[in-house]
Amino acid sequence: MKFELSEEHLSVQKAARDFAQDILKSGVIERDNKQKFPAEEIKQLGQLGFLGMMVDPKYGGGGMDTISYVLAMEEISKIDASASVVMSVNNSLVCWGLEAFGTEEQKKKYLVPLAKGEIIGAFCLSEPEAGSDATSQKTTAVDKGDHYLLNGTKNWITNGGTASVYLVMAQTHPEKGHKGINCLIVEKGMPGFQVGKKEDKLGIRGSDTHSLMFTDVKVPKENRIGEDGFGFKFAMKTLAGGRIGIASQALGIASGAYELALAYSKERKAFGKEISQHQAIQFKLADMATEIEAARLLCLKAAWMKDQHLDYGTASAMAKVYASRVAMETTVEAVQIHGGYGYVKEYHVERLMRDAKITQIYEGTTEVQKIVISRAMLA
Ligand code: CAA
Repeated sequence: MKFELSEEHLSVQKAARDFAQDILKSGVIERDNKQKFPAEEIKQLGQLGFLGMMVDPKYGGGGMDTISYVLAMEEISKIDASASVVMSVNNSLVCWGLEAFGTEEQKKKYLVPLAKGEIIGAFCLSEPEAGSDATSQKTTAVDKGDHYLLNGTKNWITNGGTASVYLVMAQTHPEKGHKGINCLIVEKGMPGFQVGKKEDKLGIRGSDTHSLMFTDVKVPKENRIGEDGFGFKFAMKTLAGGRIGIASQALGIASGAYELALAYSKERKAFGKEISQHQAIQFKLADMATEIEAARLLCLKAAWMKDQHLDYGTASAMAKVYASRVAMETTVEAVQIHGGYGYVKEYHVERLMRDAKITQIYEGTTEVQKIVISRAMLA
């Protein structure tokens, strides 16, 4: 067992850290206030290869491992979790899914521009009445011979307004339950596809979350991913990797808040000395540092297992449960250490606290992760 990062890992980590500090940091408060999507910043992130990190270079990707992805996600999320969710969805849910299960034609047409960051993608599973209970898809994809006719509504879709390519889960054979679901590649602009309202969110306010409506959208048969009825398994397999991304996002939110609290504690004086010299603050910092390190190890272990082609579903669920809890607890403590300053926008930690909450909800709630973990334990 080796706990050392390679030179390559360190350089990816540094590139992501520099990008976050130099490019993302200055506008992050304004983007949060105005719910402004970081369009220019995402374009640059794509040019640097962060939107298709793990994709084979022959499809325009960076050919990196999942450990590099965790390191980059942590650094970007320390500063801007709205940018990092775009990165996570594009890398894990869209590019990975297409590379693992798409046809050669699908990869050439869709994966290449997605991996290069020329366009971004969205993953569309959640519906008004199917969140955690993802088998209960109401969106239908009726087989019409050479195409599917797609009808229904998707909710809370990250990159909903800005994506060009959407992976949409829909029910084709209702009598077969989850075995009747397909995943279809839908392009923005296909007749009958409409982007609905943008959500006004508690956190990750710079990200672009929409509902989507499909009314008699004709999707060519060649846009189905995998065999007929593979859609639910496609979604589950893809989400298992996506959860490593969101766990790393939670880790970054936590470590970003910790770094701010640590720095502030060395500047702020109370009762005649820096607050870092008071044991009440030292104990908080010690807990934060320990929990963040444990979350980091869980993220890296899940990533390592994925890179070794081991079964990583339980490990990714554990990483997400734990890292998202640490993100919540750490950000609350970081606000506490900042006192009144922590409650105002200028000091970043209140935003990190709001951003942390979503990591316990999307790509499977904490409760869903516990279902995944306990089923593996009891099998
Ligand atoms: N890999 C492969 N197959 C899997 C799998 C995995 N990780 N997990 C489940 N399956 C298979 C099962 O083996 C089973 O197949 P068989 O019938 O052939 O045996 C089938 O899928 C159904 O599985 P379950 O019986 O376990 O299904 P369930 O109805 O009990 O649900 C669940 C399980 C874990 C709760 C699942 O529904 C789930 O993960 N729900 C949460 C969905 C989710 O994460 N939504 C997030 C939306 S995406 C998002 O947030 C993106 C964004 O924009 C940020």
